[in-house]
Amino acid sequence: MKKNSLIFAFGFALMALFACDDGDIQERVYADNNNGCIIKLTGKISGVKGWSGNYSVVLAGFGDSDYSIVQKNIPVSDNGDVELTLSVTSNDIKTIELCVTNVLRERIYTFKKMDISEGKDSIFFDAGEVDAGMYRCLQDEIFTTTCVQCHGGSNTPAAGLYLTADRSYAALVGQPSMRVEGGTLVIPGDSKSSVLHKVINSGYETGLRFNHENMVASAQKLKLIDEWIDNGAGN
Ligand code: HEC
Repeated sequence: MKKNSLIFAFGFALMALFACDDGDIQERVYADNNNGCIIKLTGKISGVKGWSGNYSVVLAGFGDSDYSIVQKNIPVSDNGDVELTLSVTSNDIKTIELCVTNVLRERIYTFKKMDISEGKDSIFFDAGEVDAGMYRCLQDEIFTTTCVQCHGGSNTPAAGLYLTADRSYAALVGQPSMRVEGGTLVIPGDSKSSVLHKVINSGYETGLRFNHENMVASAQKLKLIDEWIDNGAGN
């Protein structure tokens, strides 16, 4: 009796398995082409070449997530003049952005963006003059937001170090440290030996009287600084 019911159960399970393959699966209809449109970008865009290989300056379409749905690299031109078309066919796309993405197509920094309006079949996106350089991102994303309050924004800068947009590059690259003996703040091509890296990452004995660890909380931003240094620390 026990054996019989086991066989029965097995047969039933088998039936259920095949029932799934009954051809009753609904075809999903994607209404993707409703607002298909062409984005035409124009602008004078500099700094595209200075990014390391892990990043791309792109024209991209985004929905609700930080990962682009569609994107196209901004071409490098001698005078910076850029003309690019991007064709967009997904209803999920809400914004078109001139931005930097990493290898996963994750948005790192947006220079210019526009909302995509429905019902148009072509949209003109004039970005104007844009510095799309790697250093500009570091300045805007990190130094200006988290450092200038102590490093020269409206005060005498801590350790004499200005991290304001007009002075930070000259103050960092190749400059001797005031606090770490024999140290250089940024050594182009060598992030791990640069005092800037040691000060804001954990695990180093810098001897500073002020602890900067965790000040730059995002691993993505810390990586951006390292990659900028390792890529030659260009302006
Ligand atoms: C709350 C104030 C404060 C903020 C914010 C701050 N710092 Fe500092 N920083 C200091 C002080 C104070 C010193 C000097 C410590 C000492 O004298 O030992 C210093 C020193 C440094 C040094 C060492 C300079 C040298 O010559 O060796 C670097 C590099 C540095 N800061 C980078 C940064 C960066 C990058 C940020 C932003 C992510 C930042 N700091 C944000 C207060 C601050």
